[in-house]
Amino acid sequence: MAHSSPSSVVSRSGRFAGGPAADVAAFSESISFDWRLWRHDLRGSVAHATMLWKIGVLTASELKAIKGGFAEIGTEIEAGTFAWKPELEDVHMNLEAELTKRVPAGAKLHTGRSRNDQVAVDVRLWLRDEIEELDTELHGLQRALVGLATRNATVVIPGYTHLQRAQPVYFAHHLLAYVEMLARDIERMEDCWSRVNVCPLGSGAIAGSTLPLDRELVATLLEFTDPKTGKPRVTQNSMDGVSDRDFMVEFAASAALLAVHLSRLSEDVILWVSSEFGFIKIADAYTTGSSLMPQKKNPDVAELTRGKSARVIGNLMSLLTLLKGLPMTYNRDLQEDKERLFDTADTVRACVRLMAAMLDNTTVNAAACAAAAADPLLLATDLADYLVKKGMPFRQAHHVVGAVVALAEKSGRPLDRLTLADFQGVDATFAADVTGVFDLKQAMARRQLTGAPGTAEVKKQLARWKKLLG
Ligand code: ARG
Repeated sequence: MAHSSPSSVVSRSGRFAGGPAADVAAFSESISFDWRLWRHDLRGSVAHATMLWKIGVLTASELKAIKGGFAEIGTEIEAGTFAWKPELEDVHMNLEAELTKRVPAGAKLHTGRSRNDQVAVDVRLWLRDEIEELDTELHGLQRALVGLATRNATVVIPGYTHLQRAQPVYFAHHLLAYVEMLARDIERMEDCWSRVNVCPLGSGAIAGSTLPLDRELVATLLEFTDPKTGKPRVTQNSMDGVSDRDFMVEFAASAALLAVHLSRLSEDVILWVSSEFGFIKIADAYTTGSSLMPQKKNPDVAELTRGKSARVIGNLMSLLTLLKGLPMTYNRDLQEDKERLFDTADTVRACVRLMAAMLDNTTVNAAACAAAAADPLLLATDLADYLVKKGMPFRQAHHVVGAVVALAEKSGRPLDRLTLADFQGVDATFAADVTGVFDLKQAMARRQLTGAPGTAEVKKQLARWKKLLG
């Protein structure tokens, strides 16, 4: 019989004759990935112990010993000298078993607590920190976009629909579209944070405890408090408290949408950096070469960001699928949540950081942009608006300009090289002032609506974001 003999496995003492079979232990361990919750597990345990002292379960010297023991363990983990034991299954049992070996009062720590509410509190503490870090990084990416926009504030490029040239826009306007998307991502993350920020400790395994635990005190110690009122926030149903992973799904969903935004930005960057567009150049440090083709300089950071969105989206699907068939309450299936959660946070945070760094090291080829933006067809809609201003119904103006474009195409001339006689041959409404339509500078000044890519408006929006981002 291939039994391991973890004599000190906390949860099995008493009921079981021996440890689990070696392959069961290997199959069910989570220490290989949940070790990274150690700081949050220690923090949760110290808060729980402090509360146990407050209600008389621990003496002051026992609490002191527990705190001292955990401080020691924390120092060892940080130094890399702590020996994690796979036979102790997870981070919770590793830390508690080691504490109890050093401090006898450690055996009292699990009073009124289960790993079910313990793991729930750990991941909430962990995710709260991650969201705060991500928030800072997202603001950093917004700053990188605004920086690139500011450095190239006068550059105009074609705006595209269906990836066909549509109308001229400031390069800055295009970048600010992503700043807006990221602002919504930040809002969603902050909203998610408020539901992560609720303390489940005291839910026990499923049904709370018969002991007079002070849940509000624990919540306060762990800063699970309302940011406005400072009041502790604790889960209101013990069964929900141990089995709720909605907050993870919300994070994974917000992260998936963020990843989709980053993927779209990557796609734009990949197009812009291609020889066909040639709008931007990425510094060597943020590109890679080809092992075969000596001339190649590839935008791998953007490609990988686009590619990694797949796994972030997949993680959301995994989490939803993980939860959908679970009866109440805690089921061991839930252990599968952590790798998906960790991977999601690690991936989006890395993508956000790398994207910001890449944009900080990107320059714009103003000449290539100007050449593309000089295409007079981009102003075909302006030409229709010109006729509208002269009283023509838009549908008719659309038709007339279509005929003008066809004439230009047929005669092999750019739209702005047609003569007044050509224009008037199509429709008599055209007058000598029609040439003004094709002055790009004037065209950009004409776009004055809020949110439009006009000269004054883009300047205003850039200033607004600079102020918001500090
Ligand atoms: N490692 C477990 C998890 O991640 C901790 C909770 C285990 N609880 C239990 N009753 N076996 O979900």
